[in-house]
Amino acid sequence: MKHNLKMKLSTCLTIFFLCIICSIGNAQTTIQLHTSDSGKNPVISKYIYSHFAEHLGNGIYGGFYVGDTSKIPNTNGVRNDVIAALRKMKIPALRWPGGCFADTYHWKDGIGPKDKRPEIVNRWWGGVTEDNSFGTHEFLNMCELLGAEPYISGNVGSGTVQELADWVQYVSSDNKNPMSELRKANGRDKPWSVGFWGVGNEAWGCGGNMTAEYYANEFRKYSTFMANGGAGKIFRIASGASDADYNWTETLMKNIPHNLIEGVALHHYAIIDWGKKGPAINFTEKQYFQIMQSAMRMEELVTKHSAIMDKYDPAKKIALVVDEWGGWYDVEAGTNPGFLYQQNTIRDAMVAGTTLNTFNNHSDRVRMANLAQCINVLQAVILTDKAKMILTPTYHVMEMYNVHQDATLIPLTIKTDDYTLGAEKLPAISASASKDKAGIVHISLVNINPNKAEQITINLGDIKPSQITGRILTSAKLQDYNSFTDPDKIKPVPFKGAALKNGNLNITMPAASVVVLTLN
Ligand code: AHR
Repeated sequence: MKHNLKMKLSTCLTIFFLCIICSIGNAQTTIQLHTSDSGKNPVISKYIYSHFAEHLGNGIYGGFYVGDTSKIPNTNGVRNDVIAALRKMKIPALRWPGGCFADTYHWKDGIGPKDKRPEIVNRWWGGVTEDNSFGTHEFLNMCELLGAEPYISGNVGSGTVQELADWVQYVSSDNKNPMSELRKANGRDKPWSVGFWGVGNEAWGCGGNMTAEYYANEFRKYSTFMANGGAGKIFRIASGASDADYNWTETLMKNIPHNLIEGVALHHYAIIDWGKKGPAINFTEKQYFQIMQSAMRMEELVTKHSAIMDKYDPAKKIALVVDEWGGWYDVEAGTNPGFLYQQNTIRDAMVAGTTLNTFNNHSDRVRMANLAQCINVLQAVILTDKAKMILTPTYHVMEMYNVHQDATLIPLTIKTDDYTLGAEKLPAISASASKDKAGIVHISLVNINPNKAEQITINLGDIKPSQITGRILTSAKLQDYNSFTDPDKIKPVPFKGAALKNGNLNITMPAASVVVLTLN
């Protein structure tokens, strides 16, 4: 009898502890989709999925462009493997030529016969010689090959109003004028279609160390003459705030007449400490946590910058353009510190997935964003080594998420567990959802917790799917990455962990994973 009681007690205790272990292993998140669309839900602009390519390190030369005499297969000098990969990812727009480089760039150096183009020093990035062999024609023709719209960053810091107005006219004008004649003489008869123009870059820093008030006045002047330059619709983007410089946004919104401006920029990098950024691969969990803290600050930044914009522009005519974002780490050992070359791990997939969910959920105001940078620089989607090319985990997230491009946002509320490290915590799950033009619903989910799977229940509202499919991106370790010797270590695979029950969607989301679901 006594023995039996002991047995029962020990069985109960075992079950009790098993339950505790299970609940530790699988946490709980609930998501509610708000599907009653009153026609007011914003469209997630495809331009949120845009990219940035600066004359920096091997971003342009060796990355996009190898020249038409290269043995690497190319079309007019642009790598064919890169063209295919970026087309598959559906790159909507590409920002060029900088960054800091833009405010030192004089576009007339990069047109005409290549042997006549001057060589300059790239003073921002490694002090290397820039031979100007990749200029306006090469960039705009490349955009046509990629199926991407160009976004040209004009030189305000060391340029003139006339120089920028001439550039607009050179690329866009169909009328007879000195600039369109020059373009024709250089071999391009028809104008290109260039809508997006940046009026300087980081005017508060490398773009001229201006005050917000001074820059707002400069912007008014530049913008006035740019408007007269080209044929099509022009979208002028003001150099915006760094991080939480809300005064910068407020000053621009207050001081620039709204008929002169279509977008205000914002730059935010996920960084631990500018003096001690930490490694791109062999980071600790603490460094992972710090990067996620910094990346997820994007939510607060776009919320607060948007609130300021709402004050001056309640109709939301002016876009918030996050034209530089991404993770920034120490360069890989043995590489030029001025080239900003870093590897890309599952950590970067977490940064990309959570940030893109934030942009989707704020698509009423955030209507363009450009990942920094596209190839071989910072949080790149592509890395190249001579003839070899690899796709990074960030590429795969961008490709998986492209289903949201130009789809209608489905707002959601989320109640999630925390990912805790020591005394600090972050929301473990991030999500966004949309309905595309064919009526197909997509839900993108990120579990940033590297230690726990998460049970997620999604209330689908009035969505009644007959089929659910999905793809997942994950790997055994946060530090895993694709290398030139193991290029496909990390790639999306079919996801089978979602099931419908009583109208709800139940998902088991593995630790440190990105999932995109398709509901037909
Ligand atoms: O993306 C690298 C640099 O970061 C850009 O040139 C500059 O705009 C920013 O500070």
